[in-house]
Amino acid sequence: TISTTDYRGAYHFSPDEKWMNDPNGMVFFKGEYHLFYQHHPFGTTWGPMHWGHAVTKDLFTWEELPVAMAPDEHGMIFSGSAVVDWNNTSGFFDEEPGLVAIFTHHLEVPNDQPIQRQSIAYSKDNGRTWNKYEGNPVLEHESYVDFRDPKVFWHEQSKEWVMIIACGQTVCLYRSPNLKDWTLGSEFGTGIGSHDGVWECPDLFPLAVDGDHGHEKWVMLVSIGADPAFKEGSRTQYFIGDFDGSTFVPDEASRTVRWLDHGRDNYAGVSWSDIPAEDGRRLFMGWMSNWMYANQTPTEGYRGAMTIARELTLETIDGKVTLVQRPAREMEQARKPILTLHNVSVQEARKHLSTLQLVSYEVDAQWESEQSVQFTLRSSASHQTLVGVDANQREVYVDRSRSGIVDFHEHFLGRHTASVQGGVQHLRIYVDSSSVEVFASNGQAVITDLIYPDVDAARITVDADQEDMLFSALHIYQLSPVKV
Ligand code: FRU
Repeated sequence: TISTTDYRGAYHFSPDEKWMNDPNGMVFFKGEYHLFYQHHPFGTTWGPMHWGHAVTKDLFTWEELPVAMAPDEHGMIFSGSAVVDWNNTSGFFDEEPGLVAIFTHHLEVPNDQPIQRQSIAYSKDNGRTWNKYEGNPVLEHESYVDFRDPKVFWHEQSKEWVMIIACGQTVCLYRSPNLKDWTLGSEFGTGIGSHDGVWECPDLFPLAVDGDHGHEKWVMLVSIGADPAFKEGSRTQYFIGDFDGSTFVPDEASRTVRWLDHGRDNYAGVSWSDIPAEDGRRLFMGWMSNWMYANQTPTEGYRGAMTIARELTLETIDGKVTLVQRPAREMEQARKPILTLHNVSVQEARKHLSTLQLVSYEVDAQWESEQSVQFTLRSSASHQTLVGVDANQREVYVDRSRSGIVDFHEHFLGRHTASVQGGVQHLRIYVDSSSVEVFASNGQAVITDLIYPDVDAARITVDADQEDMLFSALHIYQLSPVKV
């Protein structure tokens, strides 16, 4: 089956129409995962920012809802977060808890620097309509021009709200009893991490190390904007450390820069708030683009898509606590088995694959010995996307040099690699109309890349160092369309 849509992902969220960038206000409430997003409802390039809105119950079937927030006298609605105010600390609610959004108001000033200040809004109807607080803005900075993207969470130990927010080339941590009055706790980021671009869209959350809830560490995500000096464009780094409600102290391993994703197209991602304790997961989604070329990608009528939902965990790998990403397990419900092979050689596998024509699918492959293995995906006479493992270098790669339309930006074309301690003998690859997301060695390394092949570039093949190498398991699942 060949999908007839051009470039619109079958199982990735993208807006019905017009422009989208960062995920915003991701919060779980009353059985719904909310996704708000940076949205320009009147154009297919970045413009006056609104918050678009979509909800999902299963993390892959999305329902798009009307625009949630529009610019006002304080300016555009930039990125931010949302929380459930369970105990009515804000005083906005009566009997029922509701949602509070904390976001940046970006005000353009003629002949001067723009002003970025933080504001709040509340919703009493599950995020369908929002009331902006009459006391907005609630937080401004006396010196930073870049002061944006507040991510707020409840810190149980200190019984206060904590806000992490990008301020220039650092992040600032504020505390509040009521989401309205904020006090600076600390600033983090001077002399540590990558400063190859302005700091944006931070997040901070605790995770159990190796599933041991007696051993928790805090993870900080910090996206960095595109700077023409770096061909990677915009990227997201992470730090691991300790947090006492006020100050973040990074571990030794966080002294070197650590990237969340080794592809080009996973930016401004943050985690969902208020996932119920009995679930306990930390779920993440990023914007599947890069500021380097985000405004030029060759889609029509709309522009921008999100990654699939992913679960973040902390695992000790080679003695180092490492951030690991896996597809959210809900993604398995979207599977329709197409091919299931066990203990097959590369030749046999190739024979089976040669009968398939697929655009939106998952490959789950495991093999027995450390070897170089390469999948050729979304392939036709003229197009191909290579996803493979180089056993000598012990790295996983995506090569999109011949993946389809590549000429809309000089740095789009290329091969992206991630090294994996201990090598790779397991790949999960999510392929869609215009993207590949590769999870190597059970999520130890991830590469997320956009691709723009013809819709009939739908063949799949595989090669390896040795033709008699055995795949212990090779699954292909078609993934069904998911917008209602
Ligand atoms: C990140 C970002 C944010 C900002 C938003 C504006 O992609 O630059 O820092 O709030 O996009 O749309």
